Amino acid sequence: MKDIRIWFASSEVAPFAKTGGLADVAGSLPKALKKLGADVRVVMPKYRQIPKEYVERMRFLGYTMVDLTWRKQYCGVFSLEHEGVTFYFLDNEFYFFRDWYYGMFDDGERFAFFSKAILEMLPLIDFKPDIIHLNDWQTGLVSVLLDAHYRDYRENGFYKKIHTVFTIHNLKYQGVFPKQVMDEVLGLDWSFFNQDGLEFHDNVNYLKAGLAYSTVLSTVSKTYAEEIKYDFFGENLQGLIRKRSSDMYGIVNGIDYDLNDPEKDERIYKTFSIDRPEGKYENKRRLQEDCGLEVKADIPLVGIISRLIQQKGFDLIERMMSELMDLGIQIIVLGTGDQRYEDHFRWAQSRYPGRVSANICYDSVLAQRIYAGSDMFLMPSLYEPCGLSQLFSMRYGTVPIVRETGGLKDTVIPYNMYTGEGTGFTFANYNAHEMKDAVVRAIQVYRDRDRWRKLVKSCMSQDFSWDHSALQYMQLYNMILDRYGG
Ligand code: GLC
Repeated sequence: MKDIRIWFASSEVAPFAKTGGLADVAGSLPKALKKLGADVRVVMPKYRQIPKEYVERMRFLGYTMVDLTWRKQYCGVFSLEHEGVTFYFLDNEFYFFRDWYYGMFDDGERFAFFSKAILEMLPLIDFKPDIIHLNDWQTGLVSVLLDAHYRDYRENGFYKKIHTVFTIHNLKYQGVFPKQVMDEVLGLDWSFFNQDGLEFHDNVNYLKAGLAYSTVLSTVSKTYAEEIKYDFFGENLQGLIRKRSSDMYGIVNGIDYDLNDPEKDERIYKTFSIDRPEGKYENKRRLQEDCGLEVKADIPLVGIISRLIQQKGFDLIERMMSELMDLGIQIIVLGTGDQRYEDHFRWAQSRYPGRVSANICYDSVLAQRIYAGSDMFLMPSLYEPCGLSQLFSMRYGTVPIVRETGGLKDTVIPYNMYTGEGTGFTFANYNAHEMKDAVVRAIQVYRDRDRWRKLVKSCMSQDFSWDHSALQYMQLYNMILDRYGG
């Protein structure tokens, strides 16, 4: 394969800044691409929240000015080598030293700045990528800005041959702003404001910009790539998605197998492996002890780690809580989100003491301990572009119970009661009783110790490392260069 230069842009990257799965992907995929020989560099905003240990190691490379129509804004460029990959951080304290990453009144301007800076800074670091790999709405403008202001308009043809890949991690979040951003912030000609372009119900839609102007589109599982062509999943963009379906690829996410390894993970209570699974029981015991659950080896412990939002299927769990409890299980939940679900789990913990543990917070150590110590992992999502938690679970021998949608469908093989094949328990319809039925089936198998042990082993022997999927991205990049010229 050719030496290929990738400029990978994301608004969040683990371990520097994270609100969701996008950060995990942006933190681990580049590492895997690098292993395959790509010259990949990653760019993100320099947020206030980035831990000090990383900020202290950053190097200041210089600055550039970013043009936002009637004003030019300073953009400092810092870099840091981390696990063999070079990361670039864009500094402007006015935009990125905020209390949180998103949800500010001026997000439209903040991420326009980010998107422009992603292009503007390239000459400064003397990096001419073959492909810019964009992720989600926060970087969606890059492709249209490249066409409108850079490709044919900059000296030396620096931007001439750059192609773009736009990856959708979640179609629901689109970055929709009043149309005035067109000339007040973006400085884009109104000819881009049309049905096939940026216009969306008389507003500007940043994600749609990515869909409309990028060379190639992708999303994070094959099933989700299909689903979003239809009204139910398409979030009002299904028309454009159908139109571009021949440019749409589904590549399932991997996870970082080095950082998530039950044999080496220092965050869990006791390490274990597929050949020495006993350690898993010790993890369960300690987790029960630390999280206020009755310490009992033979009661099925169900883990839930998620943002507590509707997408993740909490309506079903809320509806079924008392019936699930009647099945004689324990539930441990970790996450924050909508008040309604937070309150529900707090209520459940007081209603079922010793049986429900509600951890309404974000805690990366506890997360690993739940993956390692639970027997089952519940993820009944309404929709799920890929989902990473089911992959972490399987890696730690925790059997997933999932709804058959998006990446959940592509990564969890339904358990076959007769042959003993499969890796989890699944249900098709978004229906509380179907979910309960999947839990009942899981408990049945759990009660048969030999069958369960075999199932746990099947989970642990799956390979969801990046090796396979990173290779598919490399093939995609090469296809683009072959087809459109490098
Ligand atoms: C989003 C999606 C999730 C996916 C992740 C990484 O958070 O909701 O399904 O796994 O992005 O691609």
